[in-house]
Amino acid sequence: MTTLKLSSLLVIFTFLFACQPQKKSDEQPLVSSPFKITTTNFGVLPEGDSVTKYTFANSNGLEVSIINYGGIVTNINFPDTSGKVEDLVLGFDHLEGYLKESPYFGAIVGRYGNRIAQGKFTLNGQAYNLATNNNKNHLHGGLKGFDKVLWDATPFESADGAGLKLHYLSKDMEEGYPGNLDVNVTYTIKNDNTIEIDYKATTDKPTIVNLTQHSYFNLTGDVKRDILNHEVMILADSLIPVDAGLIPTGEMMSVTETPFDFRQVTPVGDRIDEQDEQLSLGGGYDHCWVLDKTTPNALEWVVKAMDPESGRVFELATTEPGVQFYSGNFLDGSITGKYKTAYQHRYGLCFEPEHFPDSPNQANFPSVVLNPDEEYHTTTVWRFSIVE
Ligand code: GLA
Repeated sequence: MTTLKLSSLLVIFTFLFACQPQKKSDEQPLVSSPFKITTTNFGVLPEGDSVTKYTFANSNGLEVSIINYGGIVTNINFPDTSGKVEDLVLGFDHLEGYLKESPYFGAIVGRYGNRIAQGKFTLNGQAYNLATNNNKNHLHGGLKGFDKVLWDATPFESADGAGLKLHYLSKDMEEGYPGNLDVNVTYTIKNDNTIEIDYKATTDKPTIVNLTQHSYFNLTGDVKRDILNHEVMILADSLIPVDAGLIPTGEMMSVTETPFDFRQVTPVGDRIDEQDEQLSLGGGYDHCWVLDKTTPNALEWVVKAMDPESGRVFELATTEPGVQFYSGNFLDGSITGKYKTAYQHRYGLCFEPEHFPDSPNQANFPSVVLNPDEEYHTTTVWRFSIVE
């Protein structure tokens, strides 16, 4: 009897033990994550909402901070050729700077990146008047664009990378735009030192959309001087000439034999002060280049910038047909940003991938219309490296 009981107990124990979850191996991931995510408080908005800063570090020297206000990239830390880690973007140490005086530093821009003449457009026979905030024109989404709203933010980590999923519901007629626009923007920081920005949107009424990202880069690190030494390449045979209000004339202009030819790597400062009608209208470079794509919506590498002193290289791939290259012409030293630096003339450069400016009023430009049965989806990738 006893022997039987004992042996059956033994069987039960063995069975129970075999069924125990293998704690040790379950708790230790097979491969440890190459990413580190930290979350800190970044202040409180006047309406009382808290703003959070999310920092993502990979194991190859790239560290990126993003806040849920404006989806703003506040810092991109990356080493130079000697290994010195410095910050490559303009911005502010505190939320107040972003609330008070930011010219879209690091922000997500929407619903429409760039200008719409007089803030007017007609869609399916219906005329719309958008908020005007730039010499009677509409710029970068209006008075309170996507750069000035609080996004729902969810940090994540996947096999692909770590990053932040941002969501914002832009209500029907916000800043004058028709339709409830449901927007998802995902930043993914990867271990190959790329940052992917993926934009998706849907609407319940026909509307227009043109989202972009407005980071000001200065690869010298911690913004030591202007960006005129940066060597830039833009794979584009033509650009969109503008009038005095920086509104497209509707033509396309060949870059051949103009200061706008960046098909070969050229320092920004080499030709920026030449006598040229388009340069004087833009106050420097502030134009949309028409990218040479092999396939219109393919994700292709189209922009490169390199700082010869630090050896830092920035590259950009996008699915968009155009990129606005803005050489920081409106910076004039009146804004003091991170590290107590006054941002002087041309202390940062922006590459804003987008559809062309004023597309809703230009029949020959690719359409920016989004209908209820469609999904808006564009992708841009930034890659950081050091010259060999
Ligand atoms: C864009 C525009 C510029 C300027 C900046 C923000 O790049 O093209 O003209 O408005 O944004 O200052």
